[in-house]
Amino acid sequence: MTQPVVIILAAGEGTRMKSRTPKVLHQAAGRSLLGHAVAAAQGLDPSQLVVVVRHGRDLVAAEAQRLAPAALIADQDEVPGTGRAVQCALAAIDQPADAVAAAGDHSPAGRPAGLASPEPIVVISGDTPLIDAGTLQALVDAHLAAGNAVTLLTALVEDPFGYGRIVRDQAGQVAKIVEQRDASPEQAAVREINAGAYVFDREALRAGLARLGRDNDQGELYLTDVAAAARAAGGAVRAVIAEDPAVIQGVNDRAQLAQAAAAINQRLVTRAMIAGVTVIDPASTWIGPEVELEADVTLLPGTNLAGRTSVAAGGVIGPFTTLTDTQVGPGAIVDRTVARGAVIGEGACVGPFTHLRPGTVLGARTKAGSFTELKAARVDAGAKVPHLAYVGDAAVGEGANVGAGTIFANYDGVTKSKCVIGPGARIGSNNVIVAPVEMGAGAYSGAGAVVRGDVPPGALVVSGGDQRNIEGWTIRKRPGSASALAAERALGDQINRRARP
Ligand code: UD1
Ligand code: MG
Repeated sequence: MTQPVVIILAAGEGTRMKSRTPKVLHQAAGRSLLGHAVAAAQGLDPSQLVVVVRHGRDLVAAEAQRLAPAALIADQDEVPGTGRAVQCALAAIDQPADAVAAAGDHSPAGRPAGLASPEPIVVISGDTPLIDAGTLQALVDAHLAAGNAVTLLTALVEDPFGYGRIVRDQAGQVAKIVEQRDASPEQAAVREINAGAYVFDREALRAGLARLGRDNDQGELYLTDVAAAARAAGGAVRAVIAEDPAVIQGVNDRAQLAQAAAAINQRLVTRAMIAGVTVIDPASTWIGPEVELEADVTLLPGTNLAGRTSVAAGGVIGPFTTLTDTQVGPGAIVDRTVARGAVIGEGACVGPFTHLRPGTVLGARTKAGSFTELKAARVDAGAKVPHLAYVGDAAVGEGANVGAGTIFANYDGVTKSKCVIGPGARIGSNNVIVAPVEMGAGAYSGAGAVVRGDVPPGALVVSGGDQRNIEGWTIRKRPGSASALAAERALGDQINRRARP
């Protein structure tokens, strides 16, 4: 069977979003609206994917090409409307890339202009992110099975306001689609609405588009008018009513954006729960579309898993944890943590209040405790960074311990350098490890050491010399201050005590 061509409409201004960002680039549940449309389109394995752009053209085109490098970008001109958008898409399809660049060049990349092709044309909006590939495939199947000219997705909704209404004839067949702004009170009362997803026979679409006029409240070329035109030309126009009316939800403003995001997320969270993940509070748990979770993972409230994050069996994540592009090994505990581009090993214990930055690799049974930040740090099996530390550009060997308050000074303001801490080494509290430094296996450092040079295996490094007390310093150097008065009182008391028999 020939695979359909899919056209995604993404040229609209999105006025109701009141945003500098083009509507289809707004994020909902881990993807842009356009990303959801592209994912649904790719589920059909299309022979060609076309994205129509105009407002925010370069940004939208760049996102389309990031999502689908093979996508054809079609520019809509100044004529407004969804019908015009599809006309522009067809013009781009008919215009092989090499026809403009080099006439007479018969490169196989382009199809000769105007060559009819049997594949059906699917049109979807960039702003209906809940429509999934399964819904679209059912629409294509129904279209081909019945030999329709137009097959459109509709839904029966409680509140049809804002959508195009499906007007049916006496026999119950789809007669036309009437937009909210053009609807009579009787038409406006219809609760069957147009979802904005269609399958067209290519010739019926061309013929219908050729007949579009701008005689409507917005003065636009409406794609929806192709339905009536196809019918007038004798074609069959049929609707597939969505089982779940939620899938058709369009995003025109930010309230609808939040609703759509919550609905997509609910789908993803439910899928995870069915696959064996315990989710304590589905409403506050966000799972991105590319996240992979094994059975017997537990997600506590306020967990946000984004990008290509994965969690192996037995992992307990949250509460209040955001992991982006992070891999969590079996049985690890990650509490109140922000991590990006990190690897957390089997049985590791992270948090609470921990920041793992890109390139951090925590080995098995390691610990990164409260108020620690790690960046490009490899912490080998069993090693610990339990409290209040910064470990950047460093390797910490197996079983080593980094004392509370230790800072790896990896940056001198010009260059970043690396530190290597040997296995079994113990860094004392409140050290500064001034990179580049190598500390040998089993070496120790004293509390408060500033380690500026390499330390041999098994050595103890201390710095700052022996403690010296300079008597009377405050009274001499800060005379009259509160500190000096306090010191005078304490010293006077000592003298009085000694004077007493
Ligand atoms: C459209 C439908 C309406 C349907 C609703 C479903 C038309 C005339 N109306 O209305 O029947 O119920 O979707 O959500 O089609 N676009 C372009 N170029 C344009 C105008 C729009 O590419 O000139 C794109 C937009 O970027 C958007 C999509 O087409 O992704 C729909 O446009 P929008 O303005 O949101 O149409 P609706 O009023 O929602
Ligand atoms: Mg819309």
